[in-house]
Amino acid sequence: MGGKRQLKLGALLHGVGGGTSTWRHPDAITDASVNFGLYKQWVRKAEEGKLDFIFIADGLYINEKSIPHFLNRFEPITILSALAAVSTHIGLVGTLSTSYSEPFTVARQFGSLDNISGGRAGWNVVTSPLEGSALNYGRKQHPDHATRYRIAAEFLEVTRGLWDSWEDDAFVRNKETGQFFDPDKMHALNHEGEFFSVKGPLNIQRSKQGHPVIFQAGSSEAGRNFASRAADAVFTGQETIEEAREFYQDIKRRAAGFGRNPDELLIFPGIGSIIGSTEEEAERKYREVAELVTVEEALNYLGRFFDHHDFSQYPLDEPFPDIGDLGKNSFQANTDRIKRIAREQNLTLREVALRTATPRGNFIGTPETVADRIQEWFETGAADGFIIHAATPRGLEEFVDHVVPILQARGLFRTEYESDTLRGNLGLPVPENRYTRARALKV
Ligand SMILES: Cc1cc2nc3c(=O)[nH]c(=O)nc-3n(C[C@H](O)[C@H](O)[C@H](O)COP(=O)(O)O)c2cc1C
Repeated sequence: MGGKRQLKLGALLHGVGGGTSTWRHPDAITDASVNFGLYKQWVRKAEEGKLDFIFIADGLYINEKSIPHFLNRFEPITILSALAAVSTHIGLVGTLSTSYSEPFTVARQFGSLDNISGGRAGWNVVTSPLEGSALNYGRKQHPDHATRYRIAAEFLEVTRGLWDSWEDDAFVRNKETGQFFDPDKMHALNHEGEFFSVKGPLNIQRSKQGHPVIFQAGSSEAGRNFASRAADAVFTGQETIEEAREFYQDIKRRAAGFGRNPDELLIFPGIGSIIGSTEEEAERKYREVAELVTVEEALNYLGRFFDHHDFSQYPLDEPFPDIGDLGKNSFQANTDRIKRIAREQNLTLREVALRTATPRGNFIGTPETVADRIQEWFETGAADGFIIHAATPRGLEEFVDHVVPILQARGLFRTEYESDTLRGNLGLPVPENRYTRARALKV
């Protein structure tokens, strides 16, 4: 490995794509979101490129305005468990909401995935921005933004407690003596909190990596505090290198403030890469994707961030409408940003909708240009790694075949996996079992 700091890379596997119209691209496989064969090919490709992990995003509410991928897609734990069987080293990260599940169930699900995969599981802890989610879970009301983060903090604390139910040498399995486990090494949690009451113990052991890796993707004040206190890794959607540096420093500072080693919290901006053999080709590929999107589709896409607000009621070519606090209880960080930029740059509704639906990111160009930008972000305090969400149907393949070798040649990215666990590859420590540690301290 040498002493040089190494870049970390993940890939978002997103079926027919994150846009409203990418499914209509000439290279798109239209049933990609529910095509297991394709997911298998993608995970193998990502593993061939020695990527740290693949990531499956998720949400809990759709309507007729949702983008095609959201309408018909795999549930994360299910698809990740299947992908565990066709991969050996790559991490398997999925989203699960703390607002609409129970810690005992989630601890079991990720505990099982972590054991099935030999220590490669990661959980993207989200609080569910979409208010409609309440309607699918028999709830009268979607919890407000601040309450969702309070629930998330307690939820994660309970889940981590449950993961330590069994000390690593608890299962004796001695056929001679008839002892299956050591009762001193089995622990009930007996948690009684504001939102959850959980006795434990959990009915699954820890994996080789101790606990699944915790990812978090919030960017609001509450989201940043939660991530820097409790997560192992943070996803973010910062668009410029300056914003990304500000975010990076802010999160690392907050982590240090919570008494943590900031190097043990990794920051992953998302990049919508488009690669061409020349700059012109990359630009043409971007336009090909952007031109598939109609203004109506762009308005729907924008609306989802604001709890599916109907933006078609406003004039398209006048300044972005004053919608007050709308969006605060949803994707707060995103909606605040959209409103701020519209105001600062005096954008029309049409411009805001098209920019949001077809963002023209920083990572469009030849493999060398994209590698240069990655290196710049990585070496100047904007990122520890990146989550790649390819903006064209063959984008992952092109990234692995053309950008990864450049990063490897520059000594920025591995040529072989260092470990067969996600923590091992990310360079994160294995959390010690809390009861084993307490016993060691007593002796
Ligand atoms: C790379 C990335 C991936 C995300 N994945 C999901 C996801 O799978 N499900 C989800 O509900 N939200 C996801 N989000 C949105 C965040 O959970 C969060 O709602 C958003 O960043 C707004 O931040 P806030 O909650 O602090 O207001 C993602 C965000 C980013 C940047």
